[in-house]
Amino acid sequence: GAPVLVDTFGRTATDLRVSLTDRCNLRCSYCMPPEGLDWLPKPELLTDDEVVRLVGLAVRELGVTEVRYTGGEPLLRRGLPGIVRRTAELEPRPRISLTTNGIGLDRLAGPLAEAGLDRVNVSLDTLDRDTFRRLAHRDRLDDVLAGLVAARAAGLDPVKINAVLLRGVNDHEAVLLLRFALDHGYRLRFIEQMPLDAQHGWTRKDMITADEILDRLAEGFTLAPDIEHDRGSAPAETFTVDGGPATVGVIGSVTRPFCGACDRVRLTADGQVRNCLFAVEESDLRGALRGGATDAELADRWRKAVWVKRAGHGIDDPSFLQPSRPMSAIGG
Ligand code: GTP
Ligand code: 5AD
Ligand code: SF4
Repeated sequence: GAPVLVDTFGRTATDLRVSLTDRCNLRCSYCMPPEGLDWLPKPELLTDDEVVRLVGLAVRELGVTEVRYTGGEPLLRRGLPGIVRRTAELEPRPRISLTTNGIGLDRLAGPLAEAGLDRVNVSLDTLDRDTFRRLAHRDRLDDVLAGLVAARAAGLDPVKINAVLLRGVNDHEAVLLLRFALDHGYRLRFIEQMPLDAQHGWTRKDMITADEILDRLAEGFTLAPDIEHDRGSAPAETFTVDGGPATVGVIGSVTRPFCGACDRVRLTADGQVRNCLFAVEESDLRGALRGGATDAELADRWRKAVWVKRAGHGIDDPSFLQPSRPMSAIGG
């Protein structure tokens, strides 16, 4: 078959997102319940060696050029710096990024940058300590802020911030968050809440839409579409702020879907390929790998998994079903 990861709609997956654990030290209400979830048993997780073998295969044989490590919270994975270092040694060297809640980054940003991490996306939904505690059920705002400072000091570039706005919780903070990001040189993106929470509590009427986000930002800034930079396959639409050069992004996964340009494929912490965040089926690479499959067999299985990727997430279809795994177990 074709050497790269293509699907029947002609899209090519070059951006591999690897979840390294389903565990997390926060409990963001749009993600998981305060009591946490039944975490995957350790033997079911890919080992560091298995992760590196599969990522290496993707890079060498399947055309993957960008590797993003996610969670749950990937900084909880002890072997992360080693995994990053071994990823950076692959030929051709992929770009390496991380999506994290920032807790522990104050200590790890330096070692990770040293190991070859190129850039980082940090989740930060509020600048208010009480709101943080209410939203994430842990009193860790200061740790996240320290993580951001360390990321920049370590030379990770860009440092992006992801913010999800929740109605009646932090949706009054859009302007404050953007001012903070501009003041510190972080690249802020606002994200529409998606139906991927473990509690299945998402409703369309509670979701702050991309339009609403832009309305709120207009109360403090003048935004204009960023026509100079081609969006490509990026999920964020970018806008210049007060004439630029600073920008802000809006990821309108629900009301402004970007599935047609999607270049992503996912590997879960337990070694399943998912061709979409909202995929209903997975393909078991861990079982094949532990059963002694060759690289060629694993690559073949991976190509078949991507080939059947659906046209879009179908959130608006009457028959839409939320995936059986929550976001924390899929990888953001
Ligand atoms: P870069 O633009 O490369 O920095 O990465 P990213 O924005 O895709 O990565 P990140 O992990 O920071 O994800 C931010 C948000 O993008 C997630 O919360 C999702 O809302 C959204 N997102 C990421 N991947 C997908 C996807 O495959 N489909 C959809 N619908 N949304 C996605
Ligand atoms: N909808 C939108 N974004 C979400 N995230 C986690 N759960 C959801 C959801 N249901 C975000 C996190 C993080 C990124 C990886 O995904 O805030 O920034
Ligand atoms: Fe943890 Fe991220 Fe889920 Fe928040 S959104 S609970 S930081 S995995």
